[in-house]
Amino acid sequence: MVAVQTDLIDRAAAEAFIQLARTTDKFERYENPHAQRIAAIADEIATSFHLARHDRGSLYAAALLHDLGEVAMERDYVQASGALSSEERLDLARHPVIGEREASRVGADRAAQLLVRWHHEWWNGSGYPDALRREEIPLTARILRVADSYAALTDARPFRPALTEEAAKRELIDRAGIEFDPGVVSVFLSLEPIAEMASFAKTHEDEPPPDTAEKKSRPWDLFSFSK
Ligand SMILES: [Fe+2]
Repeated sequence: MVAVQTDLIDRAAAEAFIQLARTTDKFERYENPHAQRIAAIADEIATSFHLARHDRGSLYAAALLHDLGEVAMERDYVQASGALSSEERLDLARHPVIGEREASRVGADRAAQLLVRWHHEWWNGSGYPDALRREEIPLTARILRVADSYAALTDARPFRPALTEEAAKRELIDRAGIEFDPGVVSVFLSLEPIAEMASFAKTHEDEPPPDTAEKKSRPWDLFSFSK
């Protein structure tokens, strides 16, 4: 269990958001507390960037609420084991905008609402919903993208096993400058490990060796990194 970080946002709000995060994790079929891991990892990165306390609070709230839009959409395919069809991907790409509305509805501040909206924006401008690029994306949203992806990669999903910490870090490095802000990846890699960074991979033998055909054809390359 991850502790409630009452020093960042109001305690009642934190408890309510953690409940919503648990509902979202369950809907997405995470066995472990995914959103709370993201919140802890994101705050470690934010602290390294010496971000202001209110920015860390908005980031913490957004980490807990980031996929609330998926719950609101109630789509069965989110829980399916197979890869998404292109139509399903397009439909699911609406969840950050719906999540922004939901974050407003549950009382998150405006900055947190916008972080929910922008948690799938990519450094190179290929993300959604607004195709922002580089510094157009707020630093906190770039941090959330890295924390969300690392936490997703190191946890088992219905469509793939958990990657080891080393394999997940390699994925971040591979996609730095594409999906992720290279500066955020660099800071993340320099962090002292915390409990929430530990992978749920069962054994290191589960991990396919790098540069194999299996790696090239992995089905979770883009949108399946994290939904
Ligand atoms: Fe998402």
